[in-house]
Amino acid sequence: MLVVSGPASRELGEAVAKRIGLDAVRVESKLFPDGECYVRLESDVNGEDVVIVQSTYPPQNTHLVQLLLLADLVKKRGAREVIAVVPYLAYARQDKSFRPYEGVSIETVLGLLKCVGVKSLVTVDVHTPEVFAKAGFPCKDLPAVGVLAEYLSTLGLKQPIAFAPDVKALRMAKKAAEILGGEYGNFRKERDRVTGEIKMFPECRHSVDGKDVVVFDDIISSGSTMATAVKMLKEMGARRVFSACTHPLLTDEVHRRILDSGAVEVVGTDTVSSAVSVVSVSPLIADAVSK
Ligand code: R5P
Repeated sequence: MLVVSGPASRELGEAVAKRIGLDAVRVESKLFPDGECYVRLESDVNGEDVVIVQSTYPPQNTHLVQLLLLADLVKKRGAREVIAVVPYLAYARQDKSFRPYEGVSIETVLGLLKCVGVKSLVTVDVHTPEVFAKAGFPCKDLPAVGVLAEYLSTLGLKQPIAFAPDVKALRMAKKAAEILGGEYGNFRKERDRVTGEIKMFPECRHSVDGKDVVVFDDIISSGSTMATAVKMLKEMGARRVFSACTHPLLTDEVHRRILDSGAVEVVGTDTVSSAVSVVSVSPLIADAVSK
């Protein structure tokens, strides 16, 4: 078995390979002046099972095409099985038609992976794991809340409360509360599908007054959800508010906005390469791939 560390996840791929004692095959990549992608393997993969580690965070179209080119390439170079590890799977949020005549992007992406010979897929905190039922090949989603909460538990939190910014993230908050040894709560979030405007309503049996709160979410993108949650928790009397997410898709401006709303620190994982990606998901991926 070999690990191909794709251009979007070079360090993560190499960390995964090191953890399982495998060689990492590097990829030479570039963008042509018109934006088209080029990939070349730096060594051969003939006859091997190949694990491609390539996340598809922004620029997601480039990273997705690199992944498709790599999967097709390793297959044509004689790889036996192609396992795609896509820690952040782009297009997963459009998992149904919310409005009439909309495309369901995640189904298209899964179809493309199948077309280029991907035999199985590993993701981390994919938006809706249920979409995998239609993939036509085995898919496994790994939860990152454990490694995130372990990191937060080293920060000396006082009376920690794990908070979910919406009902969907409640599973993360419950698990984090177990690891942090505290309570959990959540907001109910309503988002206007056309304007993107959000409204949030706290639903918590426990007071946050004077306590340290960690808001856990799968994604920070525009930062609206996280900044609103942090601001409301500060207004509710929280002592310190930390912001944690699996996929920090945030720009510097969004990072600043969350800090300005009152967060002490924003923490993310290396499913996305960013300034806040301080927690590695490599142990989870190495474990899943070895099995
Ligand atoms: C929504 O269901 C997700 O779990 C995140 O809360 C959402 O994607 C965050 O997006 P934004 O940062 O744009 O508010």
